[in-house]
Amino acid sequence: MIAHASSHGRVFALLSCKGGVGTTQLTVQLGRLLAQRWQLNVLIVDWVHPFGDAALLLSTEDPHTHLGDLLRQPERLDAALLDSALLRPQPRLAVLAAAEKANLQPLLQHQAVQRLITLARERFDCILCDCGRQFDPLLMALLQDADRVMPVFQPTLAMIRDARRLLVALLEAGIGPDRVLPVLNRMETRHQPLLDLLEQVLGTRLQHRLPEHPDFAVPLHQTRDHSWQHGMVRLAATLARKPEPQDDPSGILQRWWRKQWRWNPQPPEKLP
Ligand SMILES: Nc1ncnc2c1ncn2[C@@H]1O[C@H](COP(=O)(O)OP(=O)(O)OP(=O)(O)O)[C@@H](O)[C@H]1O
Ligand SMILES: [Mg+2]
Repeated sequence: MIAHASSHGRVFALLSCKGGVGTTQLTVQLGRLLAQRWQLNVLIVDWVHPFGDAALLLSTEDPHTHLGDLLRQPERLDAALLDSALLRPQPRLAVLAAAEKANLQPLLQHQAVQRLITLARERFDCILCDCGRQFDPLLMALLQDADRVMPVFQPTLAMIRDARRLLVALLEAGIGPDRVLPVLNRMETRHQPLLDLLEQVLGTRLQHRLPEHPDFAVPLHQTRDHSWQHGMVRLAATLARKPEPQDDPSGILQRWWRKQWRWNPQPPEKLP
């Protein structure tokens, strides 16, 4: 992995408004996109404890060190220790697996989280934290430092109620609307007329909406149907603060070649 010691990575905390809302898959897909298409150095931190599953979705390796191991010893936490704790499923994508337990001294937590985030910012362009929905002091310490807090929810009554509760809780914790970037997942055409109402109820714009799609969990390069990815690419561009990089002119030929390969049952070189 190429680390830019001078760069200042940005931290994104993805929060679930309810269990199963899609936060882990979204974190993983965004991480892959930013690493593959934007060529950014991305760190995914699994903040769900215990039993987070982000590392499992990305790597077959068994992590020997977890987030909790690092947070328990902030005085020893340096770049080398962080590096040794990471799984690297792709050259530009690293994962710090979930803590198995989090019995930290309350006073240590903020200091430990700050140390971890400072180190991560020095080494990565983007730090995506899958936070699940545990509103504990450990998470609060992270949210205070995060550049953007991203509540993920779906257009159902219960989820909207919880999304509203979460937005209020964030506001009370001093996280203002300028740092909050809500993501509406599993949006279907029939939900479109509800959008204005949803924005009114939540008191915020819902610019980032992801459709319901069976390929949601499929690694992006393996799926043939790219139509559903627009929302994800738009969101990734917002996090990267630049549009998706376009291929150079010589890449046009490569894309045409790839398309031939996809449409034909055999690679083009084998056709008569
Ligand atoms: N837009 C979508 N279209 C289709 N399937 C989706 C979509 N979003 C999420 N899913 C599916 O929902 C399931 C739950 O997703 P995921 O594990 O990411 O949720 P989670 O919020 O992390 O859950 P947990 O609370 O268990 O951590 C997965 O099978 C995922 O593929
Ligand atoms: Mg999850």
